[in-house]
Amino acid sequence: MLNVVIFGAPGSGKGTQSGLIIKEFWLDHISTGDVLRSEIKNKTKLGLIAVGYIDKGLLLPDDLIIDMLSNVLDGKKDSAGFIFDGFPRTIPQAVALKRILNERSTDVTTMLDLKVEEDELISRMIERGERLGRSDDNLETIKSRLDVYHSQTAPLAEYYKEENKYHAIKGEGTIGDIFEQIRKILNTCQIS
Ligand code: AP5
Ligand code: MG
Repeated sequence: MLNVVIFGAPGSGKGTQSGLIIKEFWLDHISTGDVLRSEIKNKTKLGLIAVGYIDKGLLLPDDLIIDMLSNVLDGKKDSAGFIFDGFPRTIPQAVALKRILNERSTDVTTMLDLKVEEDELISRMIERGERLGRSDDNLETIKSRLDVYHSQTAPLAEYYKEENKYHAIKGEGTIGDIFEQIRKILNTCQIS
């Protein structure tokens, strides 16, 4: 399987690049943010819990997210591999992902870190908020999301460096040029 963690700050292009990756590499895209937004739309129990965190720009508790991810994987047993977008976001989530994949005789193949300057992140999210009305794309929540990213999520880069799986990607420029960097890395990945 080819299992890719796509990583980066809010607005760095994880969802956009995932859309291109799945077309070329036939992976299943799992965005924990998209799963949660769908739960909120459907007013499920998890959705009712999630809304309070998402609208404040805070992370949901690890155990809830890990159970959710594990259930999503159980529903996709014939997959050729996954692209994990927005997960893991904490060290306990990374440890859980390794365990969950090891239980399925596989592991994370590679991690791609989309690097984008903060001014650019903010302007992308403000623009999207005006265009699509995503509830967490307002300046106050964006600032909280960025703070949470720096304090809780950015340390994962070190975790994947230690696993020799880390790749930095220049996440600014055209969407096509960014995808070219990703394509080159994924083409050299050893599939297990
Ligand atoms: P999530 O949905 O994962 O949001 P995020 O990480 O904040 O990231 P975004 O989806 O905003 O950005 P993106 O990197 O996907 O960029 P995109 O491609 O859209 O999480 C939302 C919330 O859910 C969290 O705050 C938390 O509450 C909760 N949550 C989710 N996962 C969790 C977890 N594991 N644990 C706990 N809680 C969790 O691009 C952004 C914009 O830029 C778009 O408009 C796009 O068109 C544009 N764009 C993309 N590429 C370019 C480019 N090259 N040039 C110009 N514009 C571009
Ligand atoms: Mg996204």
